[in-house]
Amino acid sequence: MVKKIFSWLISPLGWISLLILALIVFSGIIWGINLTQITPEQPIEFPHDRHISFGIQCLYCHQGASRGPVAGLPTQTKCWGCHQQLGITKTSVLLKPLVQAIEKNEPIQWIPVATVPDFVKFNHRPHIAASLNCEACHGDLSKLTIYENPQILNMGWCLDCHVEKAGDDYEKLVKLTDCGTCHY
Ligand code: HEC
Ligand code: HEC
Ligand code: HEC
Ligand code: HEC
Ligand code: HEC
Repeated sequence: MVKKIFSWLISPLGWISLLILALIVFSGIIWGINLTQITPEQPIEFPHDRHISFGIQCLYCHQGASRGPVAGLPTQTKCWGCHQQLGITKTSVLLKPLVQAIEKNEPIQWIPVATVPDFVKFNHRPHIAASLNCEACHGDLSKLTIYENPQILNMGWCLDCHVEKAGDDYEKLVKLTDCGTCHY
């Protein structure tokens, strides 16, 4: 039996099948990775570009970023504070879900896109304190509507920047590449 399988495997048909199987597994892995960080459909097509060109600062809506781990999303009350005064709010189809959320007093269910797994310790504060701007990690949002990650937020990406920023400072390099710095 084993011999039969083996002789099939070394026959052209056998190894072609193996190659196809390997390709299927490989593309499955790539697809899986993509799926976890793909841009989902959001409850409101929120245009970052137009709010930024209107002059609203990132920290006005994502206040936590300079203070702690989580940047946070604005509540609908914050949206409403501005939008109830705007004519566009009455006429816009895009803003209907916001009006409904206010009327029903139900929070808007935004779907997270910028996320790392739970076993990773990420904190915004030291990064903002080291004078990195939001664009360094989140890309140029003045050209985007709904948020998309400009790159996959994986370990290689964190480490590349940590090694670069540590430069010749050996102590810093050790700290910024230590497993315990980013993992529990
Ligand atoms: C400080 C004021 C301000 C805040 C806060 C604000 N917006 Fe806006 N928003 C605007 C302005 C001004 C426009 C119109 C921009 C333009 O004309 O290009 C706009 C446009 C929009 C549009 C596009 C409407 C259309 O039909 O084109 C959507 C959707 C929207 N806002 C959603 C939101 C949501 C959701 C929030 C809260 C997370 C929010 N806005 C918070 C000022 C604000
Ligand atoms: C008027 C409020 C507003 C402003 C100003 C704003 N954002 Fe946002 N941001 C939102 C809302 C609402 C969402 C959720 C919808 C989405 O993912 O596009 C969001 C989503 C995000 C996300 C993804 C959040 C997640 O849960 O995955 C990031 C990252 C982000 N914004 C960064 C920025 C940066 C950087 C700036 C400044 C250049 C900025 N935002 C300016 C309201 C705002
Ligand atoms: C050093 C890279 C880096 C910088 C700089 C950075 N972020 Fe983030 N941001 C991340 C990572 C990584 C995540 C995912 C964090 C998680 O899942 O806990 C994230 C998540 C977010 C989220 C969604 C989750 C949350 O924390 O609410 C928002 C909103 C956000 N960032 C906004 C901002 C804003 C605004 C700035 C600038 C003031 C900024 N970020 C600067 C890397 C960065
Ligand atoms: C664009 C560059 C950049 C990226 C990307 C980045 N970091 Fe950092 N990180 C820094 C800098 C700069 C510091 C501050 C170093 C210092 O103390 O001067 C820092 C500090 C930290 C600290 C605090 C270390 C301490 O104890 O002082 C943690 C934790 C951390 N980063 C985790 C992460 C994780 C997790 C990711 C990826 C999800 C990440 N960082 C991505 C540049 C980056
Ligand atoms: C600068 C931050 C950082 C440091 C330092 C770091 N990691 Fe990670 N690690 C991450 C992030 C972010 C992820 C989640 C994304 C991913 O899977 O790449 C991760 C994922 C992992 C995973 C899961 C693998 C996977 O593909 O799901 C393992 C295992 C791991 N790290 C081990 C380590 C070990 C061991 C060290 C020390 C040699 C280390 N990490 C140092 C940020 C870091």
